[in-house]
Amino acid sequence: MSQPDLSVTICGVRFANPTVLASGILGLSEDLLIRVGEAGAGAVVTKSCGLKPRAGYPNPVVADWGAGLINAVGLSNPGVDATIEELRVAKRVLKPKGIAVIASIFAESVWDFGTVAQKISAAEPDLIEVNISCPNVENEFGQFFCATPYVAAQVTRRVKQTTQIPIIVKLSPNEANIAEIAKAVVDAGADAVSAINTLGPGMVLDIESRAPVISNRVGGISGPAIHPIAVRCVNDIARVVKVPIIGIGGNATARDGIEMIIAGAHAVGIGSAIYTRGLSVFGEVTRGMQEYMRRHDFTRLDDFRGDLLATAPVIGIAPNRAPTLVNG
Ligand SMILES: Cc1cc2nc3c(=O)[nH]c(=O)nc-3n(C[C@H](O)[C@H](O)[C@H](O)COP(=O)(O)O)c2cc1C
Repeated sequence: MSQPDLSVTICGVRFANPTVLASGILGLSEDLLIRVGEAGAGAVVTKSCGLKPRAGYPNPVVADWGAGLINAVGLSNPGVDATIEELRVAKRVLKPKGIAVIASIFAESVWDFGTVAQKISAAEPDLIEVNISCPNVENEFGQFFCATPYVAAQVTRRVKQTTQIPIIVKLSPNEANIAEIAKAVVDAGADAVSAINTLGPGMVLDIESRAPVISNRVGGISGPAIHPIAVRCVNDIARVVKVPIIGIGGNATARDGIEMIIAGAHAVGIGSAIYTRGLSVFGEVTRGMQEYMRRHDFTRLDDFRGDLLATAPVIGIAPNRAPTLVNG
């Protein structure tokens, strides 16, 4: 039997396999990109860049608390003008290896989202990811950009007016109805969506100093602890929109990636797992997914993508997973 084909095409851009480096996890130095390429990622997303350089919060900004990470980096970035050059380097290194390059952007007003998108387009990234879900950035009215379908759609429309490059809008699990926001951004022109950004905010304390472990006190939660929430979000979104979905959140193993595809995702974003497993996680996830497909006689990801959509939404707790009281 021939090898299963794990390639995916998102908005006309081919990824050799469905694994994607999630935004913000690694810098854009040439060395790192070469290593990501050698490790086998199908695409990379840059750290989100904004209109102006931003210092971010003082260290410590990331901590491992056992079941995941907590972070409040504060969107430190050199600003869009400096990022254009970094992106060009990324493209030069990664394109010959067949790895797609996705530029992530954020802004502090609806208008600025368009300006950043327009500027970053000069570097010709394959796709632009629009980060409306950062837990640290509010709009001019003190509201998160992903908080209402109306504002999320406004950002999407503004970005679409300023660039010809297809856009992915990145959604948050922290709003009551992620599917409603997904539908609003797709109706406003989003070519794809990604979900999820970090969950929270959460707080992790150092019991010896009796202080929070990160400088901002609270931060977004990522890693294995949020994976079931991410799978549910992807499935909620896949039930209401037809555009491709990049499923992100706690993906660390082939099993996690397969769950995402079954839930309706086209690609599998990997972030925190790089801290715990290193860059080899990309190859491990891809090889494990390939082995699963061989075992099930699937030749393409489409053969099992969205299989869950055929079933009714499940509400409640499976009988064999009844919660047990820990301190009861
Ligand atoms: C240290 C750190 C920095 C991050 N920075 C960004 C960022 O700049 N832009 C963005 O859209 N998401 C950012 N994220 C969120 C990740 O891209 C991802 O959506 C989230 O961590 C969930 O995936 P994971 O559990 O695989 O890490 C960051 C996450 C971490 C842990």
